[in-house]
Amino acid sequence: MNILVVGANGRTGRHLLPLLKAAGHTARAMIRNYDQRGDMVALGAEAVAGDLEKPLGYAVGDNRACIFAAGSGSKTGPEKTIDVDFHGAVRLIETCERKKIRRFIMLSSMNTDEPESGPEKLRHYLAAKAAADERLRQSLMDWTIVRPGYLSDEASHEMLEVSASLGGLEGAGSISREDVAKVLVACLGRDNTVGKTFDVVDGKTPLEEALDSI
Ligand SMILES: NC(=O)c1ccc[n+]([C@@H]2O[C@H](COP(=O)([O-])OP(=O)(O)OC[C@H]3O[C@@H](n4cnc5c(N)ncnc54)[C@H](OP(=O)(O)O)[C@@H]3O)[C@@H](O)[C@H]2O)c1
Repeated sequence: MNILVVGANGRTGRHLLPLLKAAGHTARAMIRNYDQRGDMVALGAEAVAGDLEKPLGYAVGDNRACIFAAGSGSKTGPEKTIDVDFHGAVRLIETCERKKIRRFIMLSSMNTDEPESGPEKLRHYLAAKAAADERLRQSLMDWTIVRPGYLSDEASHEMLEVSASLGGLEGAGSISREDVAKVLVACLGRDNTVGKTFDVVDGKTPLEEALDSI
């Protein structure tokens, strides 16, 4: 299946590309800086130019599915967060709808339900992600919203805790970006995750068994 990866050059995105190739998919890495093309090809993907702040019809193209792993990052101000994490995500969702993309997997975040209860500096980010997630839920695509805890660069160990109930995971757990990438790719082949929103952190259950419980 041809999969558009948005945020492909990011720390999670770079894990996604070889995983998609190993799973037999064609990964199309959307990059806004074409100097990154060589890296994307080395990771097993095709590269396509695209920027969430600009029209996306060309980048979305004829793919069958889209994984959103982009974000404005913690160093940008609130305006850029709204532009990328909300308006950019909605632009992508609406372009995917127009282009008849069937499957959309969103990398979101835990605690988006209650932005006001998050740390002051994260509230605008959590609210932007929550609004984009809500727009995705209204789409007719087969969507999945994956909400990890704090992202680390630790090695994957494929042992997780997941919850599809609001506030089902207590506290603020973490999870490696590599394991998040494995979850996002696994969701592509799992009908039980369609139309679901779930939280995920490090835990004690093997990855596939944890996803069976969604
Ligand atoms: N950090 C956490 O603890 C945490 C927790 C839960 C969820 N999350 C979510 O997980 C996402 C991925 O995290 P990460 O650490 O892997 O991200 P990252 O390394 O910061 O990568 C973000 C990617 O988004 C791309 N991007 C930014 N603006 C864009 C635009 N206008 N158009 C197209 N692409 C754009 C960046 O492109 P360039 O390479 O060109 O800069 C980069 O490749 C975050 O954005 C966040 O929403 C994070």
